[in-house]
Amino acid sequence: MIKPRLAVLISGNGSNLQALIDHTQTGRLPAEIALVISNRAEAFGLQRAASANIPHRLLASQGIAREAYDSTLIAALQAAQVDWIVLAGFMRILTPAFIQTFAGRIINIHPSLLPAYKGLHTHQRVLADQQTQHGCSVHVVTAELDDGPILAQAKIDIAYPNTEQQLAAQVHQLEHQLYPLTLFGLCTQQCYDADHQGWQPVAGSYSSHQAIFAQTLSATSLQQVFQTWLNSALHY
Ligand code: GRF
Repeated sequence: MIKPRLAVLISGNGSNLQALIDHTQTGRLPAEIALVISNRAEAFGLQRAASANIPHRLLASQGIAREAYDSTLIAALQAAQVDWIVLAGFMRILTPAFIQTFAGRIINIHPSLLPAYKGLHTHQRVLADQQTQHGCSVHVVTAELDDGPILAQAKIDIAYPNTEQQLAAQVHQLEHQLYPLTLFGLCTQQCYDADHQGWQPVAGSYSSHQAIFAQTLSATSLQQVFQTWLNSALHY
């Protein structure tokens, strides 16, 4: 199998990037991280890419007009011939031109149970509203912010009292399992069949928008699927 080429776009710590690096290195996630791009020099994720010998670039965005920045970004991604653009804490709104260029091939992870809590400061807002559940979503990026077909979601019950930091850590833990699993589905063109507890080939094209996980996973089910995936034989 030819491994799909991923570009991972970051702005900060890059813990989701690290999860993707770890699972591509073991071969569990059959993809090649062809390029990591950060728009911020201080992003720790750049060091993570460097330590893993992954091509990485700083394309600083400060003070650059959105259209000009995105055309530089498009050129870099096209030159790297990537199949999927994986947003992992990339703190920029992309232009319609960018989204059109890579339509259906840009994936994002967002720290809420979309469509609830689009935008920033999700943990803080969820706690302020005294919600009982929270989680994360992986979706295809469209012109609308934090919108687009949902590929996978995972949720936790919120125990009170809870701080924003605690909640962020709990959601990150979900993300580090959900993002690699969802990309596994995309890269192998499979979706998860909850009834039979296994992966099934997706009907349709490579860039299918079909959900990889049809139902929102509880933290426990996600952990189970993840563990089984880690223990399964490598076929790719
Ligand atoms: C994650 O919570 C993700 O959902 C959001 O940005 C955060 C990135 O964290 N889009 P990290 O840089 O991967 O640690």
